[in-house]
Amino acid sequence: MADNYLEKRYEEVFGKGASKTVVKKTNPSLDSLLLRNRSHRAFLKEHVVRRDELETIISVNTRIPSAMNQQVLRFLPVTKGDAASAIVQRSIHLGGALPELHLPTPGTEPEAFIVVCSSIDEGRYVDIDLGISMQSMALKSVDLGLNSIIVCAFDRAALKAELNLPYEPLAILCVGKGQDKIQLLSIDEEQSHKYYRKEGIHYVPKVELKDLIIK
Ligand SMILES: Cc1cc2nc3c(=O)[nH]c(=O)nc-3n(C[C@H](O)[C@H](O)[C@H](O)COP(=O)(O)O)c2cc1C
Repeated sequence: MADNYLEKRYEEVFGKGASKTVVKKTNPSLDSLLLRNRSHRAFLKEHVVRRDELETIISVNTRIPSAMNQQVLRFLPVTKGDAASAIVQRSIHLGGALPELHLPTPGTEPEAFIVVCSSIDEGRYVDIDLGISMQSMALKSVDLGLNSIIVCAFDRAALKAELNLPYEPLAILCVGKGQDKIQLLSIDEEQSHKYYRKEGIHYVPKVELKDLIIK
């Protein structure tokens, strides 16, 4: 006889001896999402990000802070197969600190994007809102089992014209199943902050806590 409540209930509902699969769903901690939330520059072609996944990622914007609660950011979801996908893919620059690698490697390009625009002129508070939005969407991507990278290196005027956007594009979130092997490195503030690759691992230096705290 089952001696815990859930097992007893299971037996009452499905009968004694019925086979059971216990699906344990745990909510990831913020720390684990932050650790998994690395910037990927190579994505798995076979994994196609769906429009509803991009909309779920965009939906975090209905729950985040906004200066004066102005909420001026607007979002264009772009999936593989949309005419816009090839346009965005062509316009972005990845891995500016590693120009010799010409990232992304052919066959690993991102194909799903969220183009983030502002409906008013860019300024201090729009940019703060933008940062909060991009990081929140990046974390949601990880929460969905996907990966992303924030990209600001693109020609805004050209992209606005090519996509016929009503607003100025400020940043792009590339979304997909990340393929990079990425490791964080703890550094002192005076050491190089430049990310680098060695033997197939992408290393990302992060200034350690003692150097971040002023006093
Ligand atoms: C505002 C912003 C703009 C960025 N723009 C680009 C970009 O244009 N191209 C790129 O390859 N990475 C871009 N990145 C990704 C950074 O290079 C990346 O965050 C950094 O190397 C640290 O790696 P991590 O995100 O894995 O911690 C951007 C990140 C931020 C926050």
